[in-house]
Amino acid sequence: MSLADFLAALDQLAAEAPGRIAAAGTLDEWTAVRNALVGRQAGRLTDILAGLGALPKEDKREAGQRANAVKATIEAALEARHAELAAAATAAGPTLDRTMPARPRWRGAVHPVSLVIDEVVEIFRELGFTIALGPEAEHAWYNFGALNFPADHPAMDMHDTLYLGPEQVLRTHTSPVQVRTLQRYAPPVRVLAPGNVYRRDFFDPSHAPMFAQIEGLVVDEGVTFADLKATLSHFARRFFGPTTKTRFRPSFFPFTEPSAEMDVQCGVCGGAGCGVCKLSGWIEILGSGMVHPAVLEHAGLDSEKYTGWAFGMGPARTAISRHGIPDIRILYDADVRFLDQFAR
Ligand code: PHE
Repeated sequence: MSLADFLAALDQLAAEAPGRIAAAGTLDEWTAVRNALVGRQAGRLTDILAGLGALPKEDKREAGQRANAVKATIEAALEARHAELAAAATAAGPTLDRTMPARPRWRGAVHPVSLVIDEVVEIFRELGFTIALGPEAEHAWYNFGALNFPADHPAMDMHDTLYLGPEQVLRTHTSPVQVRTLQRYAPPVRVLAPGNVYRRDFFDPSHAPMFAQIEGLVVDEGVTFADLKATLSHFARRFFGPTTKTRFRPSFFPFTEPSAEMDVQCGVCGGAGCGVCKLSGWIEILGSGMVHPAVLEHAGLDSEKYTGWAFGMGPARTAISRHGIPDIRILYDADVRFLDQFAR
């Protein structure tokens, strides 16, 4: 190759570059033009410079200087065009990339404990129960005294109950709603009272300082323990399935007499014994009993005329045994990866 050929090739590149750069109408086209003109891999300038080595030694200096000058001119033109195109793209606003994969949206889900509460409420609604609510910051009398707790009952200790003041507590159960309801409405009463309760416990795999309870209360003339047993057994079969076995164990609560706890056969192992039922084959679902006459009297009712029964259950425990949840704390984490599983 001669110096004349080398310079002619450079001149041709210098002559056609401005038109091609001006013709680039988008940033993508600009990139293609730049690669074609001065790209390191396959650009025209790179091709031309490859001939530099073959030139006679005395011509190399001039050839190199001319090549650098052409390169600088082209790069300046490229830069100017890039600035124009970028400014136009910014002015046009962000572009919509229709090829970007859609991110799945979290749909939201009802918390598993709320699902249990909703189902329980629905089952009892069919039986004629309505909803009753009471305050979470409760007078100690409604939480304890009216419910026939003796003055020295350990539950009233500061170690077990969160006191807001000398006579004010965060209710430790939903049973105070029994008394409030009976004070306000004359029998027949059939209510369900779901709500949060508080105990002075630390979080661990099976305890939480705040959790939900569902209270049930029936008061009328002639209500018997048979009504309690039949209604709660019906509930268990509606909630856990028609073949669910239940058993009632004698228990004690200051506000019911007699008292009983209801177990259902463990749905995870079918009664054979497993980790969920702690090898017993049964899961405790609720506490219950005939409303103590003293409670009826505290609410202003004639305990010779009226009788009733009540129960209290913990929907978190039910949700845990239903889904085999190993640690109660996950119910409080608001972790959407956990909650998402319950989306319907
Ligand atoms: N209040 C009791 C508890 O917190 C449950 C219960 C309610 C028992 C109603 C009997 C009747 O454990």
